[in-house]
Parts: sequence; structure tokens; C-alpha cells
Amino acid sequence: MLGGDVGLELGARVAAAVDAALGVRITPEEALIRPAAPGRGADYQCNAAMGLAKRVGRPAREVAADVVAHLDAADLAEPPEVAGPGFVNFALRRDWLEARLADLAADERLGVPAAAEPRRYAIDYGSPNVAKEMHVGHLRSAIIGDAVVRLLEFAGHDVVRHNHLGDWGTPFGMLIEHLTELDAGGSAGHSIGDLNAFYQAARRKFDGDPDFADRARRRVVALQSGDEETLSLWRELVRASEQHFAEVYALLDVKLDDDDYYGESFYNPFLDEVVEELAAAGLTEVSDGAVCVFLPGFVNRDGQRLPLIVRKSDGGYGYAATDLATVRYWTRDRKATDLLYVVGTPQAQHFRMIFETAARMGWLDDDHHAVHIGFGSVLGEDGKVLRTRAGGAVKLVSLLREAVDRAAAVIAERAELPDELRADVARAVGIGAVKYADLSGDREKDYVFAWDRMLAMEGNTSVYVQYANARARSVLSRAGHTGGAVSLDSPIERALAVKLLQLPAAVATAVAEFAPHKLCTYLYETAVAFSAFYEHCPILKAPDDRTRDSRLALAHLSSRTLTLGLSLLGIAAPAAL
Ligand code: ARG
Repeated sequence: MLGGDVGLELGARVAAAVDAALGVRITPEEALIRPAAPGRGADYQCNAAMGLAKRVGRPAREVAADVVAHLDAADLAEPPEVAGPGFVNFALRRDWLEARLADLAADERLGVPAAAEPRRYAIDYGSPNVAKEMHVGHLRSAIIGDAVVRLLEFAGHDVVRHNHLGDWGTPFGMLIEHLTELDAGGSAGHSIGDLNAFYQAARRKFDGDPDFADRARRRVVALQSGDEETLSLWRELVRASEQHFAEVYALLDVKLDDDDYYGESFYNPFLDEVVEELAAAGLTEVSDGAVCVFLPGFVNRDGQRLPLIVRKSDGGYGYAATDLATVRYWTRDRKATDLLYVVGTPQAQHFRMIFETAARMGWLDDDHHAVHIGFGSVLGEDGKVLRTRAGGAVKLVSLLREAVDRAAAVIAERAELPDELRADVARAVGIGAVKYADLSGDREKDYVFAWDRMLAMEGNTSVYVQYANARARSVLSRAGHTGGAVSLDSPIERALAVKLLQLPAAVATAVAEFAPHKLCTYLYETAVAFSAFYEHCPILKAPDDRTRDSRLALAHLSSRTLTLGLSLLGIAAPAAL
């Protein structure tokens, strides 16, 4: 089989038939094999005849029939049927499905191939700002980025994580100055515990007190010129923030840790050189005293050229210069082939300009790609960007604790759950719900944060998938073994088998499109197929031993599939629920 992907295997057979029948060469992907809609007696549908008909100038149904006549697929599918305008419907053979399930059972990776040519990814995610509480946007970046990391690693790629901490720039003047005043008053230690309040107090002084603002500006200069006292205050602020972020990442079970910080300050030493290289390449232009890159096609609403400001008129560098340095550093110094930036869609234009500039510099080329993995905002149930009642951005630690508390209330109704497991299960369900709600929709879209929906036992939720998995695990533990050869006696068992064989395709698409939601959809469908099987096909009370062992094997494969799939999303799969 082609890397365990049934659709591609069929595609390869169709491609050979297309060549034989029409003398046209297509790839297995171009055979356009898609899972068929349920209930029509087919498992897969080929949608290629319509396009091929145009190419060869013959009616689509005739093309479809000709391809079917040349098809060599009798070992895996029943004789296919041509339907409608020229669809070809495939029903997989029962003995073929049973043999594939035996392969699956023996394969640790459940049919998912490891990349033949692994690439080296550098992924920027998390990326909060020092001395500010992380907000839900940073939560999304951490959750989506973490799922992408897990998917890429499982697919066999080399992945380097980096957390682009906002730890540099002009706001640090006011923050450090504020910190020295608190230090003088002896209250610094605790006050940076509440980072938002700290930031806001500094801001108020900066806006209201010109002397303070002057001192803050001098601090920026001192920081940039490496003044030791200023630097040590700066480090104090950075450390306090990192501790706060570490707490959130631990609660979330996100892989980001202390070694993964490559904050803005990290790139500071490279910025002179980056801007010199841009200038030497003739890409820069001075406009109103600032060094800018102007790229064709980037204009504002009034048709004026949009600058990418690489050096401000006061001589300081900003966000854009730093991001150009990230591209140069990760491709040139760290030999990454693919750069990923998991950042909200409002920054889409920024990244287009960065990537375009980097391409002109030769830092990105045919073998060095960069992708902005954008995502929408998190909205409250009122449809507005999520805020706490007090109006501040929602504090993540309290949000995540609330998720776990609410999950505890949901599972309180499950009498059969042993008490000693409750805390762990509440955590798995609560954190899983927040992550899954974020991952299960198209990431580019905004999504509404609604507790009841994300913790619902029915529907496309993590707890529904976790529950299906826990049911399978519990039957297996009662049986004490994982079954024997699979025999697909009923349509319900067959439908589950077809689903289980689609994991490789689901993982491949989620990886290729950086689209964890496609894996969520697959897991949900698999959980639905398993639940139907569980309710209609008695396992421990099966009519005979052969049937019981076959059903146990199906339950075991289902549980392995759901557990692996959830783990690729960074979500725990408790044994009981
Ligand atoms: N700290 C930035 C923010 O909060 C996000 C940084 C994203 N990464 C990057 N390389 N620009 O908006």
C-alpha cells in the first residue's frame, strides 16, 4: 500500500487505468479519490472523469466507463460503478479490508508513514510579551503551534521551537524606571507578580509625568548601550514574566520551555548587519528620516506606498527589522528549510512584507520556505473579542483553572469513575476542551469561546472523543486481552474499519495544510463510528468467541487511533471517564 493511505492506493490504480485507457498521465492525487458520502454503498468516489473528459474531448460517463474497463483493482475493490455525470464509486472488498486491519494492528504508527525526505522546521509560536499578562491570542498561538509541532514531529520532520518573546524595545524604559522606583519603596518583588497592573502603572506615570517620561527614555538608551544596572533590572522583569508563562504552559501541557526563548533581544546584535545587507542590496530608501523597504504591490487604501520600516528615524530598530533577522538567522545560521510563524491574522501583511523582502535577499528561495500560520480572534458569547467582566483581557491562568473546575462538575455525574482518578480526568477533560475548541475550527476564522459547547458530551468536542476512547479502554481492560483476527460481519463494523484506515490521510492533510481541524474532524467521525459499533455490536456478550475477539480487536484499534490522534493535538486520553 502507498504509505497506508487507501485513497492514494486507489488513486494509483486509477492513474494506471487512465494512462492505459486515455494515454494521459496523472498522479494518484490527481485521480481525485474522496471518501464517499455514507449510506450509498460505496467507500470511495473518484471525481476525475469530468476533468479528463474536457482534456480528451469525450463525454465524461464514457471516459469513466473506459477507465473502469482498464482498471486493475479487483484485489481491493468490488467492480466499481459509474454514477451521475461520471463519478466512479468504489466499495472495498471485505477480505482486503480485513487484511489491512491486520497490517494496522501490527504497525506502531497505525499506517502513518514517516516522511521520506524529512525537512527542518523552525516554528515561532507562543510569543507573548514581557510584563504583560498573556492573553487569549497568545493562548491560540501556543495551542495551534503545539499541535503543529506534534504533527510535524510525528510525520518524521526535524522541528525547532522558538518563542519570540517581546522582551525588547522602548516600553522597557518605562518599565525599568517604574521598577527602580518600586525597588526604592521596597515593594518590587510582589508587584511584578501582577504583570498587567505593573505595566499599566508604568504607562500611567509615563503619560502623566514628563520627568518620569524623560528618565524612561534615558533608560532605553542605557539598556541599548548595555548599562549593567539597567540590564540586571531588565533581566528581573524578563524572568518574572517567564515564570508566569511557564505556569500557563505547564497547565496547558504545551511543549514550550525555558530553552525555547529566542526573544526579540536575541536578534538585537544582528540588526545593524541585517539593515546594512538590505542597503547593500539596494532594497532600502530613506523616507522621513526612517530607513524603509518599499515593495511593489504594497499600498494603502489611498494608493500610497506602504513602508516596511527597518530603522526608525530615531535610529532604533523595531519589530520588522527583528523579524527580518529571524528569517536570516533560522535559514542561514540554523539551516532550517521551513519557517513557520503562528501569529494572529492581523499580522498577515507584516509577514507578507517580511517574506517578500527576505526572498529578495535570497534568505528564502526554492528550498527555504516561510509560512504565516494565521489565526482569528477568540470571541465571547456576545460576539466581541473575549474580555473578563472587568474589561481586561482574560487572564489565562484563571481561565484554565475555570476549565478544569467546570470539567470536574461535568464528570461529577459519572458515578462509575473512581475517586482517585477524578482530579486527573478533570484536568484532561477541561484543558482538552479549551484546546479542542480552539483546534477544531478552521484556524483562520474567529471562534466563540462558550463553556457549554466546548464541554458538551455530544458533538464535535474533545470530551466526546475522550469518552469513546475510555469506553473502548474499559471493555478491553474487562476482557483482559486485545482480541484476535477481525471479521467484518456487519455494515457497522465495516464502516468503523473503513474509518480506521483513514488516519494516514487525515494526518497527511493536517500536516500539509497546518490544519489541525482536519484531524479533529477525522477523530470525531471515528468516535461516532466507534459509538455506533459499541452500541449495536455487543463485545463481551458477543454470540461466540470468534466474534468477541474480532470486536475486541476493533475496539483496540479504535482506542489506539483515538489516543494517537488526540496526542497529536496535545490532548490527553484518559483510560476512564
Ligand atoms: N509578541 C508579538 C505579539 O504579541 C507576537 C510575535 C510573533 N512572532 C514574530 N516573529 N513576530 O503580537
